[in-house]
Amino acid sequence: MVTIKHRNAMIRLADQVYEPAEDSYLLADTALELINDDMNVLEIGTGTGFVSAVLKANRNIRLVGTEISPLAASCAKSNGIDVIRTDMFTGLKARNQFDVVIFNPPYLPTSDDEKVPGWLNYAFDGGINGRKDIKPFMEQVRNYLKPDGMILLLVSSLTGIKEVMQEMEQYGFSPQTIARDKCSFEELVVIKAKRLNSI
Ligand SMILES: C[S@@+](CC[C@H](N)C(=O)[O-])C[C@H]1O[C@@H](n2cnc3c(N)ncnc32)[C@H](O)[C@@H]1O
Repeated sequence: MVTIKHRNAMIRLADQVYEPAEDSYLLADTALELINDDMNVLEIGTGTGFVSAVLKANRNIRLVGTEISPLAASCAKSNGIDVIRTDMFTGLKARNQFDVVIFNPPYLPTSDDEKVPGWLNYAFDGGINGRKDIKPFMEQVRNYLKPDGMILLLVSSLTGIKEVMQEMEQYGFSPQTIARDKCSFEELVVIKAKRLNSI
């Protein structure tokens, strides 16, 4: 069994489950700077549970994850994450309860012939423009955030950072880029956003 260690957390990997990469590390390290003890945190698409495990290992928080892939959900569970296997927010009862909602979505522009077989496709396939999951996420997230809660969203220059931020504004949030990492063929960013009326 392959395990990785980061900031006091040990994370088991599994076949057909997204292996934490530069995006996961950037999001975990950025989230750790902003999340304090006693917060309620929700991670959508937790994968192996890497980001959540790093947060739990370093902060005294309440955290729940969701995950569409049964393989990833079972991997995250084995890494100590309280995970619900569901599509995004479906079935979550906790309304307006979270201080922070984190999401590292499938963000790569993907055509039909670029899809990968099996559940792993959900980790990469951002639809034709890379933003397929941003809209349903933004439509629903305010129902789960506390009025002054924040979103931490990871996207890539390939996703269209300006377009993502415009979409967030259309949903009544005020986005700002708070972390960046230049990789070989893309730039990764973490966008922090709060509701406009809570600023
Ligand atoms: C880029 S991976 C990130 C995984 C992990 N959070 C990380 O940073 O290493 C995206 C994850 O979101 C999951 N996912 C994609 N669409 C989803 C949806 N509609 N609801 C829940 N999870 C989803 C995928 O299965 C995958 O595990």
